[in-house]
Amino acid sequence: MKVTVVGAGNVGATCANVLATREVANEVVLLDIKDGFAEGKALDIWETSPINLYDTKTVGSTNDYAKTADSDVVVITSGLPRKPGMSRDDLIATNAGIVKSVTTQIMEHSPNAILVIVSNPLDVMTYCAYLNAGVDSTRVVGMAGILDTARYRSFLAEALNVSPKDIQAVLMGGHGDTMVPLPRYTTVGGIPVTELIDDETLNSIVERTKKGGGEIVNLLGTSAWYAPGAAAAQMVEAILKDQRRVFPCCVWMTGEYGISDMYLGVPVILGKNGVEKVIELDLNDEEKKLLSKSETAVREVKAVLDGMNS
Ligand code: LAC
Repeated sequence: MKVTVVGAGNVGATCANVLATREVANEVVLLDIKDGFAEGKALDIWETSPINLYDTKTVGSTNDYAKTADSDVVVITSGLPRKPGMSRDDLIATNAGIVKSVTTQIMEHSPNAILVIVSNPLDVMTYCAYLNAGVDSTRVVGMAGILDTARYRSFLAEALNVSPKDIQAVLMGGHGDTMVPLPRYTTVGGIPVTELIDDETLNSIVERTKKGGGEIVNLLGTSAWYAPGAAAAQMVEAILKDQRRVFPCCVWMTGEYGISDMYLGVPVILGKNGVEKVIELDLNDEEKKLLSKSETAVREVKAVLDGMNS
């Protein structure tokens, strides 16, 4: 099994490192446009192999897509990250050009690959990759929900003073401040979270989650990488091993939840074909309202991309 990670920045390198150390694939190719950068990161990762005890081959490439040939899964992290004061949507013009060019070159060398998109603004960059990939929408999927629920779960674990391992949650909508964490579908060791936490604390955790990316940007001056990189690697593993994991992912909507013709975050089963199934929850009126607000926010950004393409 071969995985390519495009973009050897912080998120791409972290993802490649997790994929290698967990031996998710036999070979991980890291590609970047900056001369020698991907080679350097790949070599540094490879030099951890005798310490971390894995044998996944890690290869770096400066924009030579021939080295990515016949990848089973390709993670696209290319593009500019956010700076303080920027929203993810501010990145659209620059990152759309980058994602288009990367997707086209990747598909020339790996026509059967499944694409995992990480570039921001996430929902619309996943759509951009889909427009340029020329494959079924089930094979182009965006990473956001795993990251956003991981933040939510980690905050809950801290507040409840329990292991994050025992917190299960689902979240829907776009990867932005309108995302919709769903406390009604959040459990702690099988116990509904609402039985363990007061409303005020839960609401403050939901609000913190929605701005979780921005919290890191404000602290670091650039966007996060450990959690986004690990989240993308978890999706790659689910696909390569056909695990049929249940994850919130950004997928092409074909009428589920009454939503069509756009990419948006919903719970899915992820397996060897990419998106195996979208899971439809029976949302209540309040949840439906929040999802609809998030849909509208993503549609506005999508319209900007559609305007650039027309
Ligand atoms: C974040 C960026 C990667 O949420 O979108 O941290």
